[in-house]
Amino acid sequence: LEFRRVLFRSVIMMGPPGAGKGTQATRFASARGLLKISTGDILRDSIKAGLPVAIEAKRLMDAGELVDDATMIAIARDRLLRPDAAPGFVLDGFPRTVTQARALDAIVAEHAAGTLVIIDVLVPSDELVRRLAGRRICSSCGTNAEPFDTGHRCVKCGGEMVQRADDSSAVVLERLQVHQRATQPVLEFYRDRPTFRVVNGAQAPERVALELDAMIDDASAVGAALLKARQSS
Ligand code: AP5
Repeated sequence: LEFRRVLFRSVIMMGPPGAGKGTQATRFASARGLLKISTGDILRDSIKAGLPVAIEAKRLMDAGELVDDATMIAIARDRLLRPDAAPGFVLDGFPRTVTQARALDAIVAEHAAGTLVIIDVLVPSDELVRRLAGRRICSSCGTNAEPFDTGHRCVKCGGEMVQRADDSSAVVLERLQVHQRATQPVLEFYRDRPTFRVVNGAQAPERVALELDAMIDDASAVGAALLKARQSS
């Protein structure tokens, strides 16, 4: 019931690899006290923990391919239906195929009464390639940092900063093509919804954040009004 009441505070952060989905989802979720759910992070944690599901997932991720829909839908469903997602959530990296988007709609229809806010973070390809080539993450705590040379230390835990396995230039190009092929249709699936918004992600992160906050608040208000109208009709 709790989940039903507040779903209109929930956001899907979409966009190609390197668009800044993770950066903005983390910031927004923490500012609003919402749960951030990153399917990429969940997969990387499963790999670290040596879970059986991770063997095939690692092979696909390292090649820049998508993990299969059934696995991803099960992961998202499990995470979304836990009590800590009830006050609202920010999804980062899910859904990535139209099959996943339909499954998310079904989860929402079954368990909630609200409307999802969908944000597309738009960034030109050459900027995405530049960002991913420069990204370094902590091998120990996963913190994403501004470009450091590999070998520098994490500002949070002192761990070694390394390049993500799928950030090598060949794999980045494959990830961008996979996004175009599999995830662009998801944007078309959502585009006509009154709570769909596009933000210019090719600006300074603080500027993107300001625009995003206003957009999400506006779209959430539209979602809440729709919910109210539906409930009173
Ligand atoms: P995932 O971890 O989701 O990776 P991704 O979508 O490729 O996204 P990234 O994390 O690379 O980029 P981002 O948009 O979050 O940008 P970030 O904020 O980090 O997925 C990895 C793999 O897991 C997939 O390839 C797939 O195999 C699998 N997977 C995950 N979910 C799946 C699903 N649902 N279905 C199937 N498979 C799935 O920023 C990037 C860099 O840019 C950083 O260095 C950052 O500091 C910098 N930056 C951010 N914003 C700005 C800005 N405004 N200006 C300048 N620099 C910026």
